[in-house]
Amino acid sequence: MNALNHLAIIMDGNGRWAKKRGFLRIKGHENGAKVVENVAIYCAKLGIKTLSLYAFSTENWTRPQAEIDFLMDLLKKFLRQKRDMICKNNIKFHTIGDISALRADLQTEIKALKELSADFNGLNLVLGLNYGGRDEIVRACKKLCDSGVKISENSINGALDTSGFGDVDLLIRTGGEQRISNFLLWQASYAELAFTSTLWPDFSVIELEKIINEYKTRNRRFGGL
Ligand code: FPP
Repeated sequence: MNALNHLAIIMDGNGRWAKKRGFLRIKGHENGAKVVENVAIYCAKLGIKTLSLYAFSTENWTRPQAEIDFLMDLLKKFLRQKRDMICKNNIKFHTIGDISALRADLQTEIKALKELSADFNGLNLVLGLNYGGRDEIVRACKKLCDSGVKISENSINGALDTSGFGDVDLLIRTGGEQRISNFLLWQASYAELAFTSTLWPDFSVIELEKIINEYKTRNRRFGGL
């Protein structure tokens, strides 16, 4: 049985979910945010150490400004409204990605939730915000060069935004596409991949449980025999 310490999810399909119902795309994001809470609580209860969610990529800035603004407002609301849920479930909140490019009010909210949850030791809930795997690797290498540290796998691991979370064990993508889209490129080198056509707002903890149970039976060889 494979251990599951680090689960990563690419939450895709919000726009299509909304379109299918004749709603604006933002309605899909709104419903997608509800699923985030269910999945986080489930992972916390299951004793998973880290749940990394791709909430906003370095490429998502090319979307229409109105959709970007809506996503930022939704995130802000989420960070405020989920404080109780985070505390009750002993969840520690983190972000990966360059958050200095986010709106100042959102940065304040992020900082507040990080401080509030700093002493919790259950699930690490990690949101990718203005996150791109390539950008993260470049930033890590620059940090190492600037401080004169020799480049090695270990030093890069330590300089990445995910330092301390360890490699991804299982990477799930909803929404039917089968690609990684610049999420946790370094950390997912040996991740098991699971793709489902379920659109993110329809994703349930029942389906998550099924995927995890199937993952546990896989033969992980890490390049060995
Ligand atoms: C991809 O769906 C989803 C996103 C780019 C944003 C993810 C955001 C959420 C799940 C909601 C907010 C999250 C939090 C943590 C509050 P898409 O828009 O690319 O869908 P499509 O492929 O069907 O167009």
